[in-house]
Amino acid sequence: RYTAQPFVPERGGLSALREAAAGCRGCPLHRDATQTVFGAGSADARVMLVGEQPGDQEDRQGRPFVGPAGRLLDKALTEAGIDPGDAYVTNAVKHFKFTQAEPRKRRIHKAPTLREAAACGPWLAAELALVRPELIVVLGATAGKALLGSSFRVGRVRGTVLEEEIHGRRERLVPTVHPSAVLRADDREAAYRGLVADLNVAARALG
Ligand code: URA
Ligand code: SF4
Repeated sequence: RYTAQPFVPERGGLSALREAAAGCRGCPLHRDATQTVFGAGSADARVMLVGEQPGDQEDRQGRPFVGPAGRLLDKALTEAGIDPGDAYVTNAVKHFKFTQAEPRKRRIHKAPTLREAAACGPWLAAELALVRPELIVVLGATAGKALLGSSFRVGRVRGTVLEEEIHGRRERLVPTVHPSAVLRADDREAAYRGLVADLNVAARALG
């Protein structure tokens, strides 16, 4: 079974986690990616945003949500009254998964499997235990399934405040669509408005 568990340190803060995650070999995704993209932000953050996995830019730069999806997310958060700089931002899966027709050709994002997301879960659990956010914003289906189980359907629960027990702690979560889905939508403006509306719910829940 693939799992990050043996690589997760038993003590230390976020920087210890980040250092250990750089050497994770818990599943095969580390082989083709450039580096581990660990979460970013303060351990004191009130809100944690959970995406799917790093994209091409994130893989190169080593930081989550620094590419096009991240720019859109920051804009939507700001519009909803959540300062992106105050959030802890991370992904369900910490390595970029992609296909590439030939070396030097464009790397195309490939969705992680449930097995890969489950393997990477111990990192997300460790981040949650250290940050202890007041609210988790769940960005799309991969993050939702990683946190809430495989029956998660984003369309059914988006824009609502859920209360669930996750790794022994009562968490409040607001699910919404993934910002990359907004970028791919036929009606991008409507999809963007929907994302901001959901983030408004998160902002109100934070108070
Ligand atoms: N999409 C994600 O889910 N996470 C990132 O960090 C970038 C794009
Ligand atoms: Fe480890 Fe997660 Fe990377 Fe797999 S994707 S090697 S579990 S950090």
